[in-house]
Amino acid sequence: MVKSKIAGIGMYVPQRVVTNNDLLKYMDTSDEWIQERTGIKERRYAHRTEETTTTMGVEAAKIAIERAGITPQDIDFIVFATLSPDYYFPGCGVLLQRAMKMKEIGALDVRNQCSGFLYALSVADQFIKTGMYKNILVVGSEKHSFGLDFSTRGRNITVIFGDGAGAVVLQPTEDPNRGILSSHLHSDGESAEILAMYNPGTHANHWTNEPVAEFDNAEIGQMFLSHAIIDKAQVFPNMDGQAVFKKAIIKFPEVIMESLSVNGYSTADIKVLIPHQANLRIAQFVQQKLKLRDDQVYNNIQKYGNTTAASIPIALCEAWEEGKIKEGDLVCLAAFGSGFTWASALMKW
Ligand code: ACO
Repeated sequence: MVKSKIAGIGMYVPQRVVTNNDLLKYMDTSDEWIQERTGIKERRYAHRTEETTTTMGVEAAKIAIERAGITPQDIDFIVFATLSPDYYFPGCGVLLQRAMKMKEIGALDVRNQCSGFLYALSVADQFIKTGMYKNILVVGSEKHSFGLDFSTRGRNITVIFGDGAGAVVLQPTEDPNRGILSSHLHSDGESAEILAMYNPGTHANHWTNEPVAEFDNAEIGQMFLSHAIIDKAQVFPNMDGQAVFKKAIIKFPEVIMESLSVNGYSTADIKVLIPHQANLRIAQFVQQKLKLRDDQVYNNIQKYGNTTAASIPIALCEAWEEGKIKEGDLVCLAAFGSGFTWASALMKW
C-alpha cells in the first residue's frame, strides 16, 4: 500500500533575535515572568519590509525541495498553512507558486492556526495515498511580529509569539517501514472566541454578547474595518490563556494516544514526540501525563517562541538536523490551538 513519506525538510527563521529583555522597551514585562510561564527566552522577528510570511516559506521550501533531490518545477501541489498571510486574499500558496516559478499547479491555503501544519500535512497525505500527486510541498509560516500589540495591554499574548517557517516535501513510498501511518483531526468551535483575532472580519458582532468591534456609522459598507476599530486597538488577537491551557492539556494527550492506539503502539514506542511549541509548560505537562522521558520530547520554543503553523516543521527539522530522528524511527506530531482545533500524525521516519 502506498503511504506518504517526508522526503525533504527545511526551516527558516529571520536573523533578528529579540530577547525577553528587548521587549521591556515596549511593555511592562520581565524576563523572569516570561520564562517562568512560557519557557521562552527569545524569538525571531522578520525584517519589517523585506520579509513576509510567503518569503520565509520560500526559504524553508528551497531547503526542503533540495533535500528531497528535486526542483521547484517537480512540485505538483502546494498546501500552505498560516494565520498571518501576506494578503487577506489571495492566499500565500499562490504567492509562493509565483516566487518559486513553479508550474501552474494547485495551491491550497489552510487556516487552522496552531494545528495548521498538521491539517495541511493530512490533506497532502490523502492526495499522495490516492495517487493524485507525487511531490507535494507543505509549508507552515508566520509573521506574527507584524500584527501584535506591543503596548502593555497586549503583553499576555505578544511575548509568546515569534516569526519563522518550516516546509516538507511529501512523496509516495511503498516501504512498509516508512511513512505517515495515520493522521487525526478534531475541532470544537464552542470556544472559538477564547483564542481569536476578530478583525478585520465580516462578523458584525454577531457571535458575542459583548461587542468585539466598533463600527463607524454608515448606511452601507465600512463594516470590515472601521476607523473606530483601529482607534480602539481592536485589531489584535485575544486570548484567555488559562482556558487555553486547561483544554490543551486534555486534548494533547488524547490525540497523541489516539494515534498510538489506532496503530497498535504505546508511548514507550515513541522515538520523538514533536508537540506544537505553544508553551513549554504545556509540553512539560503532556510529557508528565504520558510518562515520556526527556529524550522522547523535542522542544525549541525557548529559542523561537510560538510560531503557530511553523512550529512543528521547525522543531521537526531541528530534531532531524541534530540527529535525533533516524530512518524508521516512530515520530509523533501533535498540536492544539485556536478554534479549538487539534490534531496528530504518527509516522515512521
Ligand atoms: N509580563 C508580565 N506580566 C504579565 C504578562 C507579561 N507578559 N502577561 C500577563 N501578565 C500579568 C497579568 O496582567 C496578570 O496580572 P494581575 O494578576 O496583576 O492581574 C498576571 O500576569 C497573571 O495573568 P494571567 O493572564 O492570568 O497569566 P497566566 O498565569 O495565565 O499566564 C499564560 C499567562 C502564560 C498565557 C498562561 O495562561 C498560559 O500558559 N496559557 C496557555 C496558552 C498558551 O500557551 N497560548 C499560546 C498560544 S495558543 C497555542 O498555541 C495553543
